[in-house]
Amino acid sequence: MIIRKIACIGAGYVGGPTMSVIAQKNPNIQVTVVDLNQERIDAWNDSDLINLPIYEPGLDAVVAEARGRNLFFSTDVNKAIDEADMIFISVNTPTKTYGKGKGQAADLKYIELCARQIASISKSDKIVVEKSTLPVRTAEALKNILENTGNGVNFNILSNPEFLAEGTAIADLHNPDRVLIGGEDAESINALVSLYEAWVPKERILRTNLWSSELAKLVANAFLAQRVSSINAISELCEVTGANVDEVSRAIGQDSRIGAKFLKSSVGFGGSCFQKDILNLVYIARSYNLKEVADYWEQVIILNDHQKSRFAEKIIQTMYNTVNGKKIAFLGWAFKKDTNDTRESPAMYVADHLLDEEASIVVYDPKVSAEQIYRDLDSLGTRSIEENRRLLKVFNDPLDMIQDAHAIAVLTEWDEFRGYDWKLIKNKMKRPSFVFDGRGLLDSSLMNSLNFTYYSIGSNVK
Ligand code: UDX
Ligand code: UDX
Repeated sequence: MIIRKIACIGAGYVGGPTMSVIAQKNPNIQVTVVDLNQERIDAWNDSDLINLPIYEPGLDAVVAEARGRNLFFSTDVNKAIDEADMIFISVNTPTKTYGKGKGQAADLKYIELCARQIASISKSDKIVVEKSTLPVRTAEALKNILENTGNGVNFNILSNPEFLAEGTAIADLHNPDRVLIGGEDAESINALVSLYEAWVPKERILRTNLWSSELAKLVANAFLAQRVSSINAISELCEVTGANVDEVSRAIGQDSRIGAKFLKSSVGFGGSCFQKDILNLVYIARSYNLKEVADYWEQVIILNDHQKSRFAEKIIQTMYNTVNGKKIAFLGWAFKKDTNDTRESPAMYVADHLLDEEASIVVYDPKVSAEQIYRDLDSLGTRSIEENRRLLKVFNDPLDMIQDAHAIAVLTEWDEFRGYDWKLIKNKMKRPSFVFDGRGLLDSSLMNSLNFTYYSIGSNVK
């Protein structure tokens, strides 16, 4: 089976970069990424590449190489489906906000809409690839819809979950630890394998059955999130015992059985995947009456929520139990460095907690816009839109922002924050000058020598 044309539905954080790299590495295959959102497609087509809808280091160069050659972005979903031999589904699968499974199960309405559209448009056989992270056995539903509503053509379904992390998407795509392909039909699997073989070594391309592939994606995210919650649980213990969490991480990470990665204590994990996928896993386990299994994984989320509110409480307690009217400067709003993504970012929850105490918050993030920050805060629904704008202000210049601040809180580990002139910052702030480092980013000996009152998550340095 030879693939000449590919369509991808969903031009988001997953679909956009993944298809860009597939097109870059397979110049003879035409790749069309479609999305219902016209504004997003226009941004992908931005001629000077500075307004691409997502920020990822290296993405602009990949798009520059392939776009217009064999990579296209469009809102014409029907045409792309009609022409394609292979269709990737990469639309979002948010946590349900209504009905059965509300707050836990994945909302599959967009997936179903895609399936129905593919079925009604297709006039030739297609390979349909699940790229979105989905509950186990979604492929079955997909197959039913395609076969029952289609025009008699054949659909082969594959699961090919994406493991890229934001901020390193291009590097992860160029050099993946593994590519996972689940499916039943050998010919379809081989067709998808051949796309990846253009740049990924054969031994890193794993083949499994459909259900293992769907489940493996959820489990990978659950294990990663569990490591963060595990070290964050230890961070609280470190603070009361006098241990230092970075030292503990280093000591355990040297054990090759444990490994050094994903042991950085933080104000909590964010991002669009970890919480959603664990909730989903918990929901699936409950729906099979596996109470202990569900409770076990749910604890990862409970600990993460605790870590965010514990950080906010630490700020309040340290500042003499009141932050009312005090200026607290947030460095960072994104859920991690090198991305403009703010989904589930701990910063918004910490801000919300402090705003409840009438703090006056100012925010600087190198890549997140003021509109996005207000959108995030408003989405929590805690207070009115006017109140959010009165209590929280967004700055484009960190030094301007810090003038007369009572405290600084580091919410994202952007490299530039380390390089600031902290002596100058100290002189601009009110005394005593508090720094709450939610990412263990700054040099504690420098902070102490400059006479900041410095708190770093997981260590009780003065
Ligand atoms: C999403 C999911 O969150 C993740 O679980 C999955 O693995 C991949 O898809 P992401 O790419 O980060 O991840 O989502 P998002 O940036 O929201 O992109 C989805 C895009 O699909 C949006 O641009 C949206 O407009 C588009 N979409 C959604 C459609 O084109 N059609 C639809 O019916 C629904
Ligand atoms: C994650 C998975 O890594 C990726 O494989 C999957 O495809 C999507 O979900 P992402 O959410 O982009 O990727 O970022 P990741 O680097 O995993 O970080 C998630 C969160 O955990 C961030 O908020 C990060 O700050 C936090 N984190 C990560 C820690 O607090 N400590 C760590 O040691 C690592």
